[in-house]
Amino acid sequence: MLGATLAVLHQTNETFTAGGRQLFFTEIGRWRTSLRFPREGITPRLKLWAKKLNQPVIRNAEVDDYQTIIRAVDEWWGGRRVTLMLPKLFFVHFRPTSFVAEGNGLIVAFVIGLVSETFCDQGYIHFIGVHPDFRKHGLGHQLYERVFDGMLGLGCRIVRCVTSPVNKGSIAFHLNMGFKPEDSGKLVEGIPVFEDYDGPGEDRVLFSKALKSGEETKIAFPVKRGKAGIHQ
Ligand SMILES: CC(C)(COP(=O)(O)OP(=O)(O)OC[C@H]1O[C@@H](n2cnc3c(N)ncnc32)[C@H](O)[C@@H]1OP(=O)(O)O)[C@@H](O)C(=O)NCCC(=O)NCCS
Repeated sequence: MLGATLAVLHQTNETFTAGGRQLFFTEIGRWRTSLRFPREGITPRLKLWAKKLNQPVIRNAEVDDYQTIIRAVDEWWGGRRVTLMLPKLFFVHFRPTSFVAEGNGLIVAFVIGLVSETFCDQGYIHFIGVHPDFRKHGLGHQLYERVFDGMLGLGCRIVRCVTSPVNKGSIAFHLNMGFKPEDSGKLVEGIPVFEDYDGPGEDRVLFSKALKSGEETKIAFPVKRGKAGIHQ
């Protein structure tokens, strides 16, 4: 039976040991009656198929996801207290541009995006988090692609986001995703940093990306410059 095959795969391939375990057995249950153990054993094709089953599914974020996510974020951010930056309103009012990745009822990643009320052709990504066990497998990338599609459908041409200069993982991720940092006139470790952007001592890196290929990526942040040259 396929169930036996997948159980063997589970024991022999460590890809399947983290996080995806429950999904496995759910899927085994679903398919058991229609599929048989192949004579040649565990083929590469079967492995690929099993891996596909193990992929989390991406769907729009719902209000009911909030309690689960808010309890996880500090841990996902390596112990940083980020809960205050994620009130429930983001799950209530921005569903079309917010998504979660879910495997067998477990949320393993989420992203909160919104369309600017001030600049209707601009989207903004407020938060993205991927469970530590699911990182570096393209999940953040897939979530961003879904947000970009949602924003394009709502008339956006540009997407922006802001991150902390200490968050090196986030900076690397955004550069890999094709975001460009806005020029601030102050480079810290090669990255332009806006000093005190979110208040005293709260420096930030401002990223932007054109949503349609071929468009100019470097678009000035649509804000006035203050006396100190800090974007408002
Ligand atoms: C940042 C984060 C969302 C990335 O998610 P992810 O699922 O691991 O990202 P992906 O696997 O889709 O990576 C996409 C690209 O970014 C690169 N990347 C992702 N994280 C990276 C890191 N920490 N260092 C270097 N590169 C990284 C990947 O190698 C990949 O590049 P490639 O396409 O050339 O292979 C995840 O690490 C996370 O949740 N971090 C904690 C929360 C956080 O800081 N969020 C961002 C601020 S709101």
